[in-house]
This record gives sequence, structure tokens and C-alpha cells, in this order.
Amino acid sequence: MHADDKDGLPPGKRLVVRASQSLNAEPALEDLVADWITPVEGFYVRNHGPTPTVDVESFRLSIEGMVEKPLQLSVAELVERFPAVKASATLTCAGNRRSEFQEPKIPGVAWGAGAIGNAGWSGTSLAALLRQAGLRDGAKHVWFEGADEIVDKIEKYPFGGSIPLEKALAGDDRMPGALLATKMNDKPLTAEHGFPLRVVVPGYIGARSVKWLKKIVVSDQPSPNHYLAQAYKLIAEDTPAAVAAAAPIYEYVLNSAIAIPAPGSAVSAGRLKVEGFALPHGAPGHTLKTIELSSDGGQSWTGAKIISPVKDFCWVLWSAEISVTPKTERLIVRATDSAGETQPRDMPWNAKGYQYNAWHQVPLTVK
Ligand code: MTE
Repeated sequence: MHADDKDGLPPGKRLVVRASQSLNAEPALEDLVADWITPVEGFYVRNHGPTPTVDVESFRLSIEGMVEKPLQLSVAELVERFPAVKASATLTCAGNRRSEFQEPKIPGVAWGAGAIGNAGWSGTSLAALLRQAGLRDGAKHVWFEGADEIVDKIEKYPFGGSIPLEKALAGDDRMPGALLATKMNDKPLTAEHGFPLRVVVPGYIGARSVKWLKKIVVSDQPSPNHYLAQAYKLIAEDTPAAVAAAAPIYEYVLNSAIAIPAPGSAVSAGRLKVEGFALPHGAPGHTLKTIELSSDGGQSWTGAKIISPVKDFCWVLWSAEISVTPKTERLIVRATDSAGETQPRDMPWNAKGYQYNAWHQVPLTVK
């Protein structure tokens, strides 16, 4: 592991550590909304095992399964032989905001609202690679496998998962359905973000964007990997039958959060500047329509202004001015998207604590 300080944070990272055995860390929300493109130092890290060290010279990406021509490619071959693609896309963990679920307490990393970030990803499109390998009839899913090793109570396995082939082939070179990225914000990926190669699936929960990618398998079935077949599912109770019956989560949900002021701030009565982010549902064609704030428990709402670029599969940053009085106990934000979806006031509990997207509320003291 590349960690060199006691928190397990790699050099330069400015994050709050939520778990350090496998690094899980998120930025303070006020830092998060400083830039539409999240700097690498402030980008959350979500690892299920130790960060592997990959030797780029001997590294080969393997493409196998239902393809005409299995391929083995070095990173240099991937970069030279396939068209360069660059796109900004937001990654967010399905467990983002888990700490807001009410009792009973859910096991897992107690994320605040910072397990999200927006970066410029460069590499090539997965579709270009699949076309070169040649898809065989009946192919339906694309599996990914990372070079990390997760040690369970009884076994060891790599992190992995899959996406439907339709998603892998979707989009175009401006916004591919999935990218094979070698760079994040124009610099080679850092170790904790997947060096030398990772998948980025715009619109999908972060778990589908497999880091340290070493193997792609084309199949007629979804991946049997634990992180697709069992984890990352919305279930009311954590039993084998409930897990088996539930579908894997792919798209992330519509969401928003207030970053400034911080919870518990003491502010003066009058006009208050509020800032935050909002993310449209990760389905094609969903854009944010309104972002609204309330200082009276949701009885009346004030519109926020988008102050960042607006791009497919990317978050927006927003700012609003709202009146607060000594009676104001909290600020609330909710977003609505172009398909008419609105964030719910409450969110039903689920056993793994995923996809929390109820109104984000920040308690305040107003003097
Ligand atoms: N890929 C591998 N190989 N191992 C992992 O633990 N975590 C996933 C995904 N890809 C993970 C992985 C999860 S759950 C998320 S949310 C994103 O990586 C986080 O990406 P980041 O750490 O670059 O922010």
C-alpha cells in the first residue's frame, strides 16, 4: 500500500478517513464544492482490499470469453492502437450518505455525503476494444476483474462485476457507455484510483468502475463476482434468499446535498448564501431541472442557481440565497430532474444502506 502516514492516506490526499484497513475516505463537503472538476487530492477513495502495486511493464489486459479474437494488451498498446477518448463523468459510491439512514444501524462504511467526485477521464472506449476483439452471437454482459485481492473469512477473490453489453456499446466518443481510463484529470491514474488502468462507467454506481482492471470477459451471463452477484443490491433483509432474488444496482439515483454552511453552523438572521451539488439520475437523457432550498421544513421552496457546466452524467454545483430567521432550525435541499423525478422526503431503510437520496437536511442555529 502506498500509504505513508498513520491514517493510511496516500501523500497529498486531503480526505477524512472513514476506514483505514482498506482505505475509505471522503473530502469535507466545503472542499468538495470548490471545483466542478474534483482535484485528485480531494477525490474520495473506496477500496474493498489493499491497493495493489501493478508493474506496468509486465502488465497485460486480457480480453476473453465470447469474442472472436481474444486479446492481451499492454497499456502502451491500448493507448497506441485505440482512439483516444476523454470525458468528464461523476463517480459516486452506492453507499454515499449511508450515515443518514435511521436505526437499525447498517454495517459498512459510515459515509457522509462526500463519496462523490467529478473528474476528466482519458483513455479509450470499451466499445472500440470490444469491436476489435469481435463479439460473438449471444454476448450480453461484459465482466471486469481488478488486480486487488479481497480476503474474506473463507476465500480470496478479486474485486469485479459486469455491465450489460448494451451499456458497454452505448454513447459515442464524446461520452462512451464505458471508458478504459489511464488518466484522471490529465495525469496518470494514482495507485489508489486504479493505476495503470480502470473502468469508468458514466451513470453507474462507482462499484461498476473497476480499478486496476486486468481482465475483461464477454459473456451471456452477468458476472458471478461477489460484488455483482451478492453485494450492491437493494434488499430489505440480508438473507441468502433476498440477495439471490434482488437485481444488481447499476444506475445511480438523483441526489443533492448542501455543502455550505456545514451542519451545526451558527449564522446571522437575514439572507444566507448556501452552496452544494446535485446529480441527475444516471440514465441517458436525465438532466437536472430544479434545485430547491427550504428553511421552513419544506413548506416553501427557493430556487438555486446552477453555477457550473451542465454535462451528461456529471454533477452540477449550485448556489442559492435564502432568508433565515431565529425560528429556522434547518436547511433542506431537493432536486428534480428532466424526467419529473424528485428526491423523496424520506427514504425506506435497506439492509446494505445503498442509494440514500432523501432531502438533504442541515441543522443550523440562527441568531
Ligand atoms: N475496483 C477495485 N478493483 N476494487 C475496489 O475496491 N471499489 C469500487 C470501484 N472500483 C473498487 C473498485 C467502488 S465501490 C467505488 S465507489 C469506486 O471504485 C471508487 O473509486 P475511487 O476510489 O477511485 O473513488
